[in-house]
Amino acid sequence: MNTQSVWRGTAPSPGFGMLNGDLGTEVLIIGGGITGLTLAMLLARQGRQVVLIEADEIGSGTTGHSTGNLYETLSGGLHTIRSGWGEQVVRQVVAERRAAIEFIEEQSRAATGVGFRRCPLVLYAMSPSQQGFVDGEIDTLLRAGAQQERRSSIDAPLPPAAGPVLVLPNQAQIQPQAYATHLARQAAAAGASLHEHTRALQIDARAKIVETATGAITAREIVMATHTPKGIRFVHAEMPVHREYAVALPFGAGMSDPGPGIFWALGDEGLSIRTYDADGQRFVICVGREHPPGAHNAKAALMAVEAAAARHFGAVQPAFRWSAQNYHGADGLPYIGRDSTGCFIATGFATDGLTWGTVAARLIAEELSGSSPAFASLCKPSRLSLIKGAKSILEEVAVTAKSLVKDYLTHRQEEKLSSLAPGDSAIIDSDGGSCAAWRSPQGELFAVSAVCTHMGCKVHWNSVETSWDCPCHGSRFRPDGTVIEGPALRPLAVRHPRSLKSG
Ligand SMILES: Cc1cc2nc3c(=O)[nH]c(=O)nc-3n(C[C@H](O)[C@H](O)[C@H](O)COP(=O)(O)OP(=O)(O)OC[C@H]3O[C@@H](n4cnc5c(N)ncnc54)[C@H](O)[C@@H]3O)c2cc1C
Ligand code: FES
Repeated sequence: MNTQSVWRGTAPSPGFGMLNGDLGTEVLIIGGGITGLTLAMLLARQGRQVVLIEADEIGSGTTGHSTGNLYETLSGGLHTIRSGWGEQVVRQVVAERRAAIEFIEEQSRAATGVGFRRCPLVLYAMSPSQQGFVDGEIDTLLRAGAQQERRSSIDAPLPPAAGPVLVLPNQAQIQPQAYATHLARQAAAAGASLHEHTRALQIDARAKIVETATGAITAREIVMATHTPKGIRFVHAEMPVHREYAVALPFGAGMSDPGPGIFWALGDEGLSIRTYDADGQRFVICVGREHPPGAHNAKAALMAVEAAAARHFGAVQPAFRWSAQNYHGADGLPYIGRDSTGCFIATGFATDGLTWGTVAARLIAEELSGSSPAFASLCKPSRLSLIKGAKSILEEVAVTAKSLVKDYLTHRQEEKLSSLAPGDSAIIDSDGGSCAAWRSPQGELFAVSAVCTHMGCKVHWNSVETSWDCPCHGSRFRPDGTVIEGPALRPLAVRHPRSLKSG
């Protein structure tokens, strides 16, 4: 299935060349999403020497698969921050996020296709069981002195409300791929050196050397702007991962327009809804509930979003279908700053990371300039190192993982794979290890180890995106084993047919 997002389908990546040879630099940024690009632009504008490498295309990670909404609140609720951190931190969160949105507005002024627009965020419950969340938000925002309005109902075609509707004025929306492309061009214009299709394959955090297939980069500072940091780190043990599915319906005759806004309808069949105009075509975008990766039926999850969208907007064939994942910080705040390895990381953004990514870039830029912003101390990744024994647990699992991987298929595995029909996948366990296999619709067989190279969990098939997904920390792999996303650096080991074995 084509899973290109509406953003990537209607705006180009900038098209920088790949790295060609070894380099030395002051700051190396790994990852060309909103976090890495904003940071590259800020540092280059300060006159710092910056190199940014992106495994795929600029914006092709979560940024180009998001919903493009910018808001001061949090999808997990500011009331959860109030109960965990107190009212003062709620005010700080709102102030940081507001400043980040203003920053994006400022950057967008001269940009093509970004379509920054101010609009309200409308939050409501579709069922009484979700009303407590909305009431908690109303109360928390009142105490934080944030502007808000209340309505008693919501107009069709939006899903009906079960109780009071909260409206936050003056939030915003962008075309996230167009914004990523704009940031990349601004960073390059300010002197940053950007390289697409350049994957970090090995990261030596102590020596500050990063290997890619086309050259090694030595840096004074490394920033992992990779959505979740690569390799084995404390934060992975603390961050639940979720995938979400999205559709963009082309707006046509007979459809009612929900109007401009960020609409969050909470419930079992809840949706995040917005519209987007591209080249004279309006789209209604609906994003559904969260599911743990590698532990749900991807096709059923996508179909559930399509069915919910059809109920409210009509049975229109989606023009775009896509999916992306997010990482939740354990205590509601992201992890931003230097971690125990000495690299900078920026993660745990939940589904609020266009704004958190911008906050992160600004904080890291300040820290690299020698200052210590107050908010940075709240987001320190080191707040996790207090978890007793976390390091030894992580190391133990990693060792277990290594012992399970074998190079060749066993006789029994080969027998089973010979009956795998085109389009089917299977995990076949035997004393030769776990094998994850998929036969393409054209009949080609791909067989790889089913053991995730991050910390050894077993991968699961994702039939929507044709990938092997790991339920533990969200690493995802193509059928040939190459890494798509997540903390894994190494591909899944290819399992060769025994006929290739010499002797
Ligand atoms: C369905 C969905 C909808 C969302 N909607 C919103 C929203 O409306 N508003 C909001 O604020 N947030 C939203 N989010 C969250 C937001 O999109 C992300 O938090 C944000 O885009 C993260 O940006 P990033 O730059 O940190 O990561 P990414 O955009 O994921 O960028 C990381 C980049 O690193 C690259 N990379 C990874 N490994 C390597 C490597 N080894 N070498 C080189 N490069 C590498 C990747 O290819 C990728 O391009 C949404 C999330 C989801 C899942
Ligand atoms: S074990 Fe961590 S992502 Fe697979």
